[in-house]
Amino acid sequence: MKVIESISEMQKYSESLRRKGEIISFVPTMGYFHDGHLNLMKEGKQRSDCVVTSIYVNPTQFGPGEDFEKYPRDLERDAGLARGVGVDVIFTPSNTDMYPENYQSYLNVEETTKNLCGLTRPGHFRGVTTICLKLFNIVKPHVTIFGKKDYQQFVTIKRMVQDINLDLEVVGLDTTREADGLAMSSRNVYLKGPERESALCLSRSLVMAKDLYDKGVRDAEAIIETVIKNVDSYPYTAVDYVKICETKNLRDIKNIDAEAVIALAVKVGKTRLIDNYVFGEKLNL
Ligand code: PAF
Repeated sequence: MKVIESISEMQKYSESLRRKGEIISFVPTMGYFHDGHLNLMKEGKQRSDCVVTSIYVNPTQFGPGEDFEKYPRDLERDAGLARGVGVDVIFTPSNTDMYPENYQSYLNVEETTKNLCGLTRPGHFRGVTTICLKLFNIVKPHVTIFGKKDYQQFVTIKRMVQDINLDLEVVGLDTTREADGLAMSSRNVYLKGPERESALCLSRSLVMAKDLYDKGVRDAEAIIETVIKNVDSYPYTAVDYVKICETKNLRDIKNIDAEAVIALAVKVGKTRLIDNYVFGEKLNL
């Protein structure tokens, strides 16, 4: 497994693979791997000759007061895990290479980023789309794999790739969960003591929403109210949002009469967690 830090070396390596006709898959990450990341890499392995993963904690997607500084970082641990699932290249650039002095170009996807996390994390998706576009230009993959736990990110990246005509397949994989249902996230390491139990309010609320939907409830407000009540019944929790949206542009809907997603963000102690469920799909819980 190669570890590449330089942008030009990564570009040259990808060009050489492409010239040989090899297929490149790419899993962008901020590191501190868990099984969710490793499942994306395993999917990449199935789909390509060379799996590249990037480890880069992207400063432009963090707002003031967010966890950019304390975001967990451990390259050695990550390298061991990536090697174990057959990753071929880790690309880990520096901040000064990615955003040199006088850097001033950003890409924004207008509609899909307005609601949900876009409301409470202004500028977050502008940072995500910008860094992903830069990484796509550096790694030059044929296919990129994202987890659907970050559902809004997945929808937004797909929109961007289509809108700006990137020759790239975007694949989304279902959320990987702990045995008790908690969606895997690098931020779960922040949960302290009893907060870990409270964090189950997210996945348990999704089960409730699914049950209501399966019983025929289509009124979004009724499902949202049940979920908020459930989250509020857990200690250390504060709802950021619970919303039901159509899946194309993620606008709120009143009635679930087409494909729809319930998405929630909850602060558990100081840790902000997200989860979601697309009605009618399997919930792997
Ligand atoms: O999902 C993430 O880890 C990040 O948002 C991503 C896609 C690597 C961009 O920094």
